[in-house]
Amino acid sequence: MTEVGIDGVEIWTGKLKLDLAETFAPAQGEDPGKYTKGLGLNASSLPDVYEDIVTMGANASKRLMERKGLSPEDIGRIDVATESSFDQSKPVSTYVAGCLEQTFDGDFHHANKGERKFACVSGTQSLDDAYNWIRAGRNQGRKALVIATDTALYARDDPGEATQGAGAVAMLIDEDPDLVTLGDEQGFGSADETDFLKPNQQFPSVDGKRSMQVYLARMREAMIDFARNGGDTHPDNFELAPFHTPFPGMVRKAAVLGYRHCIRDTEIEDELAEEIGRQPRREAFDDHEAFLDAITEYTDKLAETTAYEEWYAKTVEPTFAISREVGNWYTGSVHLARAAGLAEALEDGRDLTGRNMLVSSYGSGAQAEIHAETIQEGWAEEIEQLNIFEQIEKRNEITFEEYESIHDVHNHDETTEMEPLTSPDGEFVFDGWGRMGERKYTYVE
Ligand code: CAA
Repeated sequence: MTEVGIDGVEIWTGKLKLDLAETFAPAQGEDPGKYTKGLGLNASSLPDVYEDIVTMGANASKRLMERKGLSPEDIGRIDVATESSFDQSKPVSTYVAGCLEQTFDGDFHHANKGERKFACVSGTQSLDDAYNWIRAGRNQGRKALVIATDTALYARDDPGEATQGAGAVAMLIDEDPDLVTLGDEQGFGSADETDFLKPNQQFPSVDGKRSMQVYLARMREAMIDFARNGGDTHPDNFELAPFHTPFPGMVRKAAVLGYRHCIRDTEIEDELAEEIGRQPRREAFDDHEAFLDAITEYTDKLAETTAYEEWYAKTVEPTFAISREVGNWYTGSVHLARAAGLAEALEDGRDLTGRNMLVSSYGSGAQAEIHAETIQEGWAEEIEQLNIFEQIEKRNEITFEEYESIHDVHNHDETTEMEPLTSPDGEFVFDGWGRMGERKYTYVE
């Protein structure tokens, strides 16, 4: 059977940088360590005046199509995953296609376009849809473009404000891919939850602490389901573990719970038993509170072991290399984590061809999904072409006053006007409103 997966990836960051320690913390009267150490974030990427989910998605896609030598007729499907859509009917994918048609010969008139919604997990759901479409043989040799794009803004002074971000990840899904193939086994953990939502409003209503609990609970369910469906969860059998990363501190909490789950009944648990004992089993306790105390104590000890620290340093820590500089990109976040992990591994000279990753996605509301991916021969060449670290370096660092204005510019309830803080260069830009309230875009040479 033909293998299907991600053939190529491109990442586009919003062009402004809000430094959390230097600029945000003093203005909020907070210790910088809350952001850099507690949340694990150094900065947020924010969109300049002329940037939005369409420009960032189209710019990433243009670069991807050019690099892969594609024309619009090669693409049979364009799916956009976003939580920042500005239209309840017309999908963002039509805007992106319209942008790309300004610069490519040909058109996307025969490409099936859509928009996927389930908070941050919809980026991975779109990947799944593309995978299924190709595996079903309905692609007729054509490829799918999946774009995860968000301006992840919170209301001013919401606790989530420190985790903001803006950017897009474009992925090309194809047969015999260069980057990774997707495994068939999936695990889901899904429940009707009210942790983070946007009931017809731009900025989310968030119960931050609850959202963290829901993240962990749904991930646990997904892991159980993944193993039940035949997925391999042995920690030595995957080289990287990209998670949905709203902020690295969230993943720090999830990773140790995931590791604890995955070593249960393995030789790793046996080897660690002398040092920290065996994992308390629920069935051995009459009292639930006593079990919780025992498992918490075990987890704390596990986190301090060399075995865990080494596994975390190799498998999880590298996946933060982009997120900690740009913040939460919602639908794109787990896809940033994959790219970051691979980029760090490449820099460290690790040979990952044929090795696996365990990819854990999450969306509030809430659903977690876990699947495995196998790294392909072309991965190093593909990852070498990413210029996201140069983009991050080149961002324009803004003052707190500029941040306040730019937040207002992107607030749909405000009519703030301001001059852009950067100059567009070879990219799509937002160019005002049309007569039916549609957004208009131009390519600037
Ligand atoms: N030095 C070091 N660490 C410090 C510190 C300092 N000076 N000050 C505080 N900290 C630590 C705290 O101890 C805490 O760490 P622990 O959780 O390990 O104890 C961490 O920094 C954050 O501090 P607070 O908990 O006090 O922060 P907060 O309450 O102001 O906000 C938040 C945290 C609730 C997560 C908030 O950022 C938020 O609401 N974020 C949006 C929701 C979110 O991202 N949820 C994640 C799961 S949902 C999801 O994943 C979907 C999605 O993308 C939104």
